[in-house]
Amino acid sequence: MHWHRKSWTWSITLCTLAICLVLSGAQHEPGYCAFYEECGLNPDVGEALIPPKVPCKDYRKAVSVTGDHYQLLESVCPMLAKGDGQTHACCTVKQLIFLKTILTLYKSVLIRCPSCVDNFVHIHCITTCSPNQSQILKITKTANITQPLGNVKEAVTGYETYISTSFSDAAFRSCQNVRIPATGESAIATMCGKYGSTLCTPQRWYDFQGDSSNGLAPLDINFKLLPEGQTAGIPPGAVLFSEKALNCNETTPTGGEACSCQDCVESCPAVPQPGQKTNVIQKN
Ligand SMILES: *[C@@H]1O[C@H](CO)[C@@H](O)[C@H](O)[C@H]1NC(C)=O
Ligand SMILES: *[C@@H]1O[C@H](CO)[C@@H](O)[C@H](O)[C@H]1NC(C)=O
Repeated sequence: MHWHRKSWTWSITLCTLAICLVLSGAQHEPGYCAFYEECGLNPDVGEALIPPKVPCKDYRKAVSVTGDHYQLLESVCPMLAKGDGQTHACCTVKQLIFLKTILTLYKSVLIRCPSCVDNFVHIHCITTCSPNQSQILKITKTANITQPLGNVKEAVTGYETYISTSFSDAAFRSCQNVRIPATGESAIATMCGKYGSTLCTPQRWYDFQGDSSNGLAPLDINFKLLPEGQTAGIPPGAVLFSEKALNCNETTPTGGEACSCQDCVESCPAVPQPGQKTNVIQKN
């Protein structure tokens, strides 16, 4: 009786483990990449402003980055270059040059507010280059792409990534009132698809950034914005990205100035609240 129950439990455990391994097939571990190096052009993307270069699916250890590679990482993704000339990352020089091209276009719209730019860049650097890449995302779509030498490689054309709402809300807030330099119009209005500035939300803003039909994104990214501490919706072993986003009235670690009152409500001088006067009158 006793023995029976035990072996039955064991069978279930072993079965569950086997099913889990077969079904997920994905590994999420710190220090490991989910994809690496350029793999060709995304066959699912049609007209695009920038050729949609996609990375190869490649679960591997994060690589050591030094020298020119490190310098480039530092200039494109300063938040990932904290290693004093040496660090580990999941992106090559080619991938960094490509990321820089895309970020430069977005930056031209957000440039008036360095902390907003920093928050914007942070997410795209983390997903493309973090040494913990396999932990913060799950590949959901791939395509076979024939390489110049005739061999075929599996390229990543879609993934989902897990971001804390404390980061996404703060990043959105830091960019919400930024104006486009040339026209003075709302920058976020151009980055929220059909919603414009008034109906834009953090989720809609990230949905646009991860939509490969927007002409800039080379692949589809499903940004899952989740409250900190929540585990539902995150695969076992994966983690929520939950670093702190900058406020628009803050300077950036790379020396960017706090944003002006025109682009950032928190930077505006405090105006006396109408309520304060009333209180004084009532006191007298
Ligand atoms: C990667 O994960 C390790 C272990 O959890 C952590 O110490 C490190 O700060 C992480 N690196 C980045 C860039 O997030
Ligand atoms: C930025 O604004 C917040 C909220 O108004 C305030 O608490 C904080 O002290 C300000 N920070 C700076 C550096 O001015």
